[in-house]
Amino acid sequence: MVQALESIRTSGGNLEIVNQLLLPHRIEYLEINSVEDAFDAIKSMKIRGAPAIASLAALSFAQYLTKALEQSPRPAYLTSTTEDLKAHVVPILSYLYESRPTAVNLGNAIKRLNKTLKEAVEKAGGDVTQVAQALIKEAKSVADEDVGRNKDMSKHGGEWLVERVKSKGESGEGLNVLTVCNTGSLATSGYGTALGFITYLHETKQLGKAYYTQTAPYHQGSRLTALELKSLEIPSVMVCDTMVGSLFQHHRIHAVVVGADRIARNGDTANKIGTYNAAVLAARHKIAFIVVAPVATVDLDIADGTGIPIEHRPPLEACLVRGALYPFTEGREAEIAQIMITPPDLKGVYNPSFDVTPAELITAIVTEKGVATRRAGETSFDLSSVV
Ligand code: MRU
Repeated sequence: MVQALESIRTSGGNLEIVNQLLLPHRIEYLEINSVEDAFDAIKSMKIRGAPAIASLAALSFAQYLTKALEQSPRPAYLTSTTEDLKAHVVPILSYLYESRPTAVNLGNAIKRLNKTLKEAVEKAGGDVTQVAQALIKEAKSVADEDVGRNKDMSKHGGEWLVERVKSKGESGEGLNVLTVCNTGSLATSGYGTALGFITYLHETKQLGKAYYTQTAPYHQGSRLTALELKSLEIPSVMVCDTMVGSLFQHHRIHAVVVGADRIARNGDTANKIGTYNAAVLAARHKIAFIVVAPVATVDLDIADGTGIPIEHRPPLEACLVRGALYPFTEGREAEIAQIMITPPDLKGVYNPSFDVTPAELITAIVTEKGVATRRAGETSFDLSSVV
């Protein structure tokens, strides 16, 4: 039985995430009982992936308000005016927004909740409970909407690639694609973006093999994508980040398919570090380069990639690899360790978490609304049809 891993589980008022720092060796769920827990989980990358962090931030906010409504007596900000409620929750939303800077899904979720707050205050005629309930409903829909739209974008993108390959006179069966990082159910509320695209090709029997990079230094590929592809029984091959050029030289790869953390108005796309390298190599080998992401990842306020804030992770994270001690001992739980691969206290470590792929290297941008391509001779996208 094929079973996708869940990044977030909710039941009643309980909120849990799978601790991605322990994957793939241990599947351990961690309770999220406060907005501080959610902030810490996002910042420390116990949960990661643009849509998943937006979902967790929103759900922890919903949990916070739900608990407050159930409290007896209720906290002061729920017994007074809607302006008091607003003054109390706006800083909480800003706090959650600060947890990680590059993925705009989180910022969009926070913007959406601030908008709901404003509208609900205007509509509620002073009823604080009504405002709190409107916020809870909106926060839950941030997470709930994710799975459906992932399936839509995966189908749009998959069909587009099959047609493209056929139009070039090749068979649309057995497509080989390379992906970077982890974009599956662990990075989203379910199904995934680029990994959803791969899953769609697999489900419709049009996938040859899914190749994926290890994605150093955090190894989202070898730790997380490997696990997801294995649990989905999708034929796959891992490649080290340094092997992408060799892969393109020696194997027929039909497309590189990646997710995104933020897409600027012109189509420049921030995604996991190493994505730009893959795009340059794909262009050299005339391989389609496809970005698959929800509308919530498009930031129309930013004209191009130079305006995208890039998170730099602590230098130490690039000096360590996290894994289980090998060889495994029969019958014993894997011992998880962090191994230092550099001399201690190494000075001078460059560790950006993301890079920006210029639009001119991207063949198609796919959202739940459809597929955008660049007009012949143009170096940027008109994304109006897909946002
Ligand atoms: O640092 P991470 O692991 O949060 O980075 C994740 C990525 O770059 C993903 O490719 C991106 O968020 C798209 S996820 C559907």
